[in-house]
Amino acid sequence: MISRETIDKIFEAVRIEEVIADFVNLKKAGSNYKGLSPFVNEKTPSFMVSPAKQIFKDFSSGKGGNAVSFLMEHEHYSYPEALRYLAKRYNIEVEETGQSEEEKQIRSEKESLYLVNEFAVKYFEQQLWESEKGKLIGLSYFKERGFKEDTIRTFKLGYSQEAYEAFTEAALGEAYQLSYLEKTGLTKVENGRRTDRFRGRVMFPILSHTGRVLGFGGRTLKKDAKIAKYLNSPESEIYHKSRTLYGLYQAKAELSRQDECLLVEGYTDVISLHQAGVKNVVASSGTSLTVEQISLVKRYTQHITFLFDGDAAGIKASLRGIDMVLQEGMNVRVVLFPDGEDPDSYAKKHSAIELKEYLNDSRQDFLGFKAKLLLADAADSALERSRAAREMVESIALIPDALERDAYVRECARIMRLEERVLFSELAQLRKKRLQEEERKAKREQNRPAMQVVEEQESPAPEEPLDHTALSANYTQERDLCWLMLNFPQLPMQAPDDEIPEEERITETVGEYVLLELLEDQLVFKQPVFHSFFKEYETYYNQHQSIPDGAYFMRHTDQALVALAVDLSAEKYELHNWQSKKIFVSEREAFVPRYAKEAVLRFKEISVRGMIRDIQNKISKTPGHELNTQLETLGTLNQLRVEINKALNRIV
Ligand code: CTP
Ligand code: MN
Repeated sequence: MISRETIDKIFEAVRIEEVIADFVNLKKAGSNYKGLSPFVNEKTPSFMVSPAKQIFKDFSSGKGGNAVSFLMEHEHYSYPEALRYLAKRYNIEVEETGQSEEEKQIRSEKESLYLVNEFAVKYFEQQLWESEKGKLIGLSYFKERGFKEDTIRTFKLGYSQEAYEAFTEAALGEAYQLSYLEKTGLTKVENGRRTDRFRGRVMFPILSHTGRVLGFGGRTLKKDAKIAKYLNSPESEIYHKSRTLYGLYQAKAELSRQDECLLVEGYTDVISLHQAGVKNVVASSGTSLTVEQISLVKRYTQHITFLFDGDAAGIKASLRGIDMVLQEGMNVRVVLFPDGEDPDSYAKKHSAIELKEYLNDSRQDFLGFKAKLLLADAADSALERSRAAREMVESIALIPDALERDAYVRECARIMRLEERVLFSELAQLRKKRLQEEERKAKREQNRPAMQVVEEQESPAPEEPLDHTALSANYTQERDLCWLMLNFPQLPMQAPDDEIPEEERITETVGEYVLLELLEDQLVFKQPVFHSFFKEYETYYNQHQSIPDGAYFMRHTDQALVALAVDLSAEKYELHNWQSKKIFVSEREAFVPRYAKEAVLRFKEISVRGMIRDIQNKISKTPGHELNTQLETLGTLNQLRVEINKALNRIV
């Protein structure tokens, strides 16, 4: 956990307009900044940044929040990742809390490994661009492959000297510890002898999605078949192959924008496509695709397109990857390159336009692809077709969405010229088998007696019917109260008046008034987000004996609360409210307390009405002997409602 002090320091230092300007072109508009929404395509700017409030609001997509929310939305960072990014940008040291000594050590060790890797990237780049051999061997190799200089810089490519310990010596010379050099795998120590892992290779740094250096791939420049073509960093505390996608850092903005992720095999495929202007591309780099890698992509888009080499050898092995993506509920398409070509070689032989055309024209959905693949070397007999269809249905059965499964099965029947009915029953059997397997697995995991599971399934909890009219009426009232609590936590309910003796003065603030009124009558908000806002307010009040201010919510870890706070403090809402009530800014202070009383009463009225409705519903189902108590309650509630309405009339 990042300490509260650090978080406060970060928020104090951060200027949201600067943070956002790194990603969005902003223009001054009065006291605010305006720009084109980075979340939707638009021609007229609807994206606003308020330096005074330190918030942004995107009127096109409805998104809004503070600098952290922006990074989470736009860069897909987690909350701590966003904080760390800001800390780095504003040069603030991050202090961790609630960590055991052991955890602290692991964290600082990881940090040391990152620093070593960052040094290594710079070192290998320097070798490539500045040393004689680097220029002669490394740089000319890249140029022969058609990589342009800015591409080489974008991917931070480098060169490692042929010497035994050139890198290790340089790193030790800069006071990096040998143990960290070993742990990143950059240095090998055998029998007390230190050697560089990467020697005489061109270097491909592997970056995390936030741009930190996790490890390296190094390609040999020798033709010698005995040497591995690629050498990779070993797994370490910071590098986990199965959780990394090569090129993600350079591709991520484009993944959301294109709403598609192209998946290729190797480093050079990623780089060549990127250079040709196809930037939404990543590689799983040598390993077969993992679930973790798929969920990395899922943060940005639901569509994955596999790009396969022309040689059929690798394709059958990749079918497993396709199934995994389907199982994650994502959409799968496939592009097959001509015989003997991979994306890299194709991009080199053709213009960027031809490449894009090829991608567009030969993109097919997974079903058609699988059909062709399975039927390619089979005779066109009913038997072969139903065998192939069976395999296709196996993939379809993995798709979580029932409607999609349905559509695919029909499509499969059409392609394979088979009866839908047969395939649907095949699907049903496979689904049943799968569900049984999952249940068994769940049971094993929960380690509960089998009986209990069966029982629970047989009596599902009845779903509460939603009362939509009540919900929408409550919505406005609840929103109004939250607006008061958020924007006027410190405004006194009663203006200071010297006439009234001190002990008789009401010293409550608007925030306290609303909070305590609702708590006293045990009234709760029905809208989940208002409810959690209220709960947070209450907890804060109990802990600090004071009311949280707007800034507290703007900096909250719960992004739903941040969004609510932004929403409720947005000028639009405020203006709307004041104007419709014909209230001028100077009169606010007199108006707000009165409005708070009114809003509380309105909410009470609506809550009582809800209770009355509930009782009336119950009465129709109540056995005779209990009817009296119900009717009594009903009477009390109706009386209450009359009183509330009287009080309301006195105010309005
Ligand atoms: N790979 C690896 N280790 C190997 C061979 C391959 O890690 N010994 C990974 C690399 O990520 C490589 C990818 O698998 O990029 C695809 O391998 P290959 O097609 O042989 O390499 P290319 O990327 O095509 O490289 P080149 O064009 O330089 O031969
Ligand atoms: Mn290649």
